[in-house]
Amino acid sequence: MNKLAILGGKKIRKKPFISHAIIGNEEKKRINDVLKGGMLSGFIAKAGDGFLGGRQVREFEYLIKKYFDIKFAISVNSATAALQTAIGACGIGPGDEVIVTPYTMSASATSIIMSNAIPVFVDINEENFCIDPEKIRKAITPRTKAIMVVHLFGHPANMAEIMKIARIHNLYVIEDCAQAPGAIYKRKLVGTIGDIGIFSLNQHKTITCGEGGFAITSDKKLALKMQLIRNHGEVVVGDTSLNDITNIVGFNYRMTELEAAVSIGQFKRLDFLNKHRINLARYLTRKLSKFKGLILPKEDKQSKHVYFVYPIRIKEKEIGMSRNVLVKALQAEGIPCGAGYVRPIYHEPLYQKRIAYGKKGCPFTCSYYKGKTSYTKGICPVTERMHKNELMITSVCRYPHTKKDIDDVIGAFQKIFDNKNKLVKQ
Ligand SMILES: Cc1ncc(COP(=O)(O)O)c(C=O)c1O
Repeated sequence: MNKLAILGGKKIRKKPFISHAIIGNEEKKRINDVLKGGMLSGFIAKAGDGFLGGRQVREFEYLIKKYFDIKFAISVNSATAALQTAIGACGIGPGDEVIVTPYTMSASATSIIMSNAIPVFVDINEENFCIDPEKIRKAITPRTKAIMVVHLFGHPANMAEIMKIARIHNLYVIEDCAQAPGAIYKRKLVGTIGDIGIFSLNQHKTITCGEGGFAITSDKKLALKMQLIRNHGEVVVGDTSLNDITNIVGFNYRMTELEAAVSIGQFKRLDFLNKHRINLARYLTRKLSKFKGLILPKEDKQSKHVYFVYPIRIKEKEIGMSRNVLVKALQAEGIPCGAGYVRPIYHEPLYQKRIAYGKKGCPFTCSYYKGKTSYTKGICPVTERMHKNELMITSVCRYPHTKKDIDDVIGAFQKIFDNKNKLVKQ
């Protein structure tokens, strides 16, 4: 009766988990209004009123500023675009290095290469999967211009230490909050602690407009530069008081009125959606804590974890099976989960072959670059261990799931642990 699904038994979970956003009435009404009006984008690439976008875009940016209690918000059409505008605004370019974690979505690092600078990968710590400040110190060189911090899986990185290091070495700090909107570190919303915070609104994120993103900052000059990079600033910068025209070279990262309309409705529900995630995640932690060998997410008192995904570290010896077998058995029971997160970024051909622009290895071989950054496999052992055999993630803790849905996850763990002796090596 209790035969494991991976061995031909019946699944614990009969219906699929929901993996998409729920679109509310406000989004639908606003979209209709935009369609009725016919103005699908308010942006024009020239100095003047249209330079900063249409009504919905401005209203969305106003909401962002209010929520984060920050001076400037710049909506864009993806977090990748936000990352590139941020790197560009900081004046980063050929010959420069930016410190970044290798355990993140590839764009956190490629945004650096997009400005012809060099990503320097620094390992994570195993408690929160974010960049390890101790290891940042050792990676700083005279070429380092910024630290790109990623608040991975919804957990804030150790910003106190990171900011301390950045201020000593005069480095910019860009917070990649794509997975952590609404997360808090020591009473401050992530994204407001460094120089620039960036966020994603892609399909898979806590709030979404399909594809979109935004950046926030309290620095007027950085904000202006980001606005210029967003909207063909090369034809506008001459009409501003800005003398430094670095990196303002002709991108179109503008958000349409349709995306902004959806984003407004979604953004208003951010706190509700996070609360829902947190409640389900805490329930899951309580229930899974009886299984030896599972290291469950810890919430430290000074942070608010918003559980973009729910990470579990697996001690294979203690649970008596490999992480990969456990994940396969869970998947067979109908539980959406994955072994590890992404490959350590430097394992990708871009870094292994050091080929980005042209065939000669630019920017790695750029004559302005005087460093010797290593992308050899093994440079970030904690990340590699998580990828190889320690981490599993699931994104079931999300609206509109309920504790009843989470009970299926717990039931699947129970069934697998009860029957682990029947799991032959796979
Ligand atoms: C940490 C992180 N940074 C950046 C991005 C890029 O976001 P977007 O798809 O909006 O460009 C993602 C998306 O998955 C992400 O998770």
